[in-house]
Amino acid sequence: MDNRPIGMFDSGVGGMTVLKEVKKKLPNESFVYFGDNKRFPYGSKSKEAIIELTKNGIDFLIRQNVKLIVIACGTATSQALEEVKRIYKIPIIGVIEPTVQYMEKQNYKKVGVIATAGTIRSKGWEEAIHKEIPNVEIQSKACPLLASMVEEGWTDNQIAKLVVNEYIKDLKNIDALVLGCTHYPLLENTIKEQLGKKTETLNTGKFVAMKVEELLKESQMQNEEKKEEDKIFLTDMTTHFNEIASRLFGEEIKPLQAQERE
Ligand code: DGL
Repeated sequence: MDNRPIGMFDSGVGGMTVLKEVKKKLPNESFVYFGDNKRFPYGSKSKEAIIELTKNGIDFLIRQNVKLIVIACGTATSQALEEVKRIYKIPIIGVIEPTVQYMEKQNYKKVGVIATAGTIRSKGWEEAIHKEIPNVEIQSKACPLLASMVEEGWTDNQIAKLVVNEYIKDLKNIDALVLGCTHYPLLENTIKEQLGKKTETLNTGKFVAMKVEELLKESQMQNEEKKEEDKIFLTDMTTHFNEIASRLFGEEIKPLQAQERE
């Protein structure tokens, strides 16, 4: 048993979609979330910058005495996970591997991946999927505007529908669409409306939740009873974070200002 909290990291509100799924699966656990919205968006930054920012997020979470870290960000997973796993001793889980583990068990012939420009450029999803499922056809599409729209709270208005349609209109006859950026589950209804019923949308948070549960069990690190309140830290308090996160969780989310070390 280990009653320390689980740490979660993203560039903004996107990782809250992962937190929601993990919390649902593991109600006895406590969580510390670090949203680096001062430096949002990560999707347009270089790999070197993403590695630096990911290390900064991990250092913050380690100072909060977490037992495990979830990189709840597709961009940081695809470009920094390998590097930070080499540097830190604490267990770190990203969003790609758990999702691919689920995909392996399906019988997909053709899948789509939508994500930030940085994630698509890194080929992180493609390589991970093809390693486990060599014959599946993959169609990838960078959607640089989507995460910013979500940060603005534009998830189901006319503009959101138009922009989503512009990005996904060429993704035809796919069995599943990977929401490769953790902001995108907030657009899931809008995406589903345009994809049609035959295509499954893959919300990475669901698969991350299974992986976290598995890892905690294996290493006997589960918490038996939740004692600590969850803490949500942001590097900048001036966005629509509270409104979007509160809507997602159906309860008021009150973030705290992260005290960073320069
Ligand atoms: N939530 C992020 C992701 O999963 C990053 C969005 C961004 O900062 O551009 O990729």
